[in-house]
This record gives sequence, C-alpha cells and structure tokens, in this order.
Amino acid sequence: MKNIVFIAPPAAGKGTQAKKICSHYHVPHISVGDLLREVSSSGTEEGKNIDEKMKHGILIEDTYMVHLIEGRLQKGDCENGFLLDGFPRSQSQALLYDEMLEKRAQRVELCLYLKLDYEEAKNRITGRMSCPNCGHVFNEKIEGLKPIQDYICDFCKTSLAKRKDDNEESFKERFDTYQRETEPLLTYYQQKGLIRTIDACQSADEVFKEIISILEEGAS
Ligand code: AP5
Ligand code: MG
Repeated sequence: MKNIVFIAPPAAGKGTQAKKICSHYHVPHISVGDLLREVSSSGTEEGKNIDEKMKHGILIEDTYMVHLIEGRLQKGDCENGFLLDGFPRSQSQALLYDEMLEKRAQRVELCLYLKLDYEEAKNRITGRMSCPNCGHVFNEKIEGLKPIQDYICDFCKTSLAKRKDDNEESFKERFDTYQRETEPLLTYYQQKGLIRTIDACQSADEVFKEIISILEEGAS
C-alpha cells in the first residue's frame, strides 16, 4: 500500500477511514491521538502534561512526537506497511517525517485531503462516542452510526464513552489549531504533486470507495 498522509480537520473521518483502509490492505493502523491518549491516561507527570495540551487542542512538542512515532514504526508489524493517522500536522513535522521515512528508504506517496466544513465537523464531534473495550466508534447524532441501544456498544455491550476533548470548546480550539498549523501543509504536498481532495461530507462508505479507487489507480 502507498505511504499516505491525511490532511483533515477534527472529525473529518481520519480514524474511520484509516480503520477501513487498514483492514482492506492488512496493515497496522497507528492513531497518533490514541498513542497520546494512552500516555495521557498513565497518571505520570508526562501524561498529565500531554492531557492538558490535548484538552485544548494544542500540538505536543515535535521532539516528543518523533520519539513516539519512531518507536512505534520500529515494531515488526510495520515492516510491510502502516497507516499513520494524525501525523504530520505542521510544516516542521512534515520535514521531520520526510527525514524519518528517508532512513527507511521510503517517502510520502499520497496526501489525502478530507475536506469538511466547521459546522458538520462540530456536529460529528459532539455526537461521537466510542467503546473503551473494543474501540468501535458510534455517533448519537448521525443516522446509521447510532448504537442500537443508547450509550451501549453494539458489539461487546460495554458502556460507551466520550473523549475528553469532544466538547464544543475543545473542538473550536482543535479546529483553530488545524487551520493554523495543519492546513498550510496542503501547499507543501501540492508542490510535490501528491494531493487528492475528497469530499468528506459523503457517507463513510462513499469516502472509502473514493479512497480505494485512488489507491488502486495504475494498479493492474
Ligand atoms: P486526534 O485524536 O487525532 O484528534 P483530531 O485530529 O481532532 O481528529 P478526531 O480523532 O477527532 O477525528 P477523526 O478525523 O479521526 O474522525 P473520526 O473518524 O473519529 O488528536 C487529538 C489531539 O492529540 C490533538 O488535538 C493534539 O493535541 C494531539 N495530537 C495528535 N496528533 C498530533 C501530532 N501529530 N502532533 C502533536 N500533537 C498531536 O470521526 C468522527 C465522528 O464522525 C465519529 O463519530 C464517526 O463515526 C463520524 N463519521 C466519520 N466519518 C463519517 C462520515 N463520512 N459521515 C458521517 N459521520 C462520520
Ligand atoms: Mg481520530
């Protein structure tokens, strides 16, 4: 599978699409946000510091991110490909990622821009709920994504939870950070001719179909 980078605002569907792509191509899904949430819930000083930043949608320092991601990519399951969801998110991270990949004789081959406006993203964020046990994600505001029974996981019957940063205030801060730090990366990848834009307002299945057709272009 091609080495993909997502550029997408909060709730555009990075996690949703990454899971689908990874199960289609049998590569590991590395959610940078999930890696950080694991550290933030550890109760250590480092965890508390990260938790505070995540609540306000502030990006964690590059040196920490490089250490975290390099450590994860060194694991054996990444040898035949992987999908990073949530990195890079700034110009400096894009340069660091290029360096990281160069060491592995790899490069970014495709940048998927999942386009979604503020209001739709806010609606998705404030309705999202996920299962702390099996990781399935639901949405109480979106038909087709609601759990069968309110607040209960369809698959393992565990009570669903909301992310700490899934409220209107944190969302606004995350969206601002996205516009300020991440969106300018469109120019960086545009100059490399790697951008493909996808309307993320479509259903998750339609978005996935479009992504697969882009990934399969040129394959015989
Ligand atoms: P992260 O966890 O990555 O959060 P985010 O970027 O705000 O994105 P989300 O996870 O909220 O959205 P998503 O695009 O994955 O959407 P999803 O598929 O879940 O990062 C959190 C924080 O960690 C950052 O704010 C920052 O502090 C820190 N951080 C992360 N990366 C960092 C980095 N590189 N450097 C420094 N700090 C970093 O979908 C959302 C909802 O919509 C779900 O309910 C889903 O079911 C629903 N949905 C999905 N697709 C559709 C569809 N097509 N139609 C209708 N509903 C849909
Ligand atoms: Mg996500």
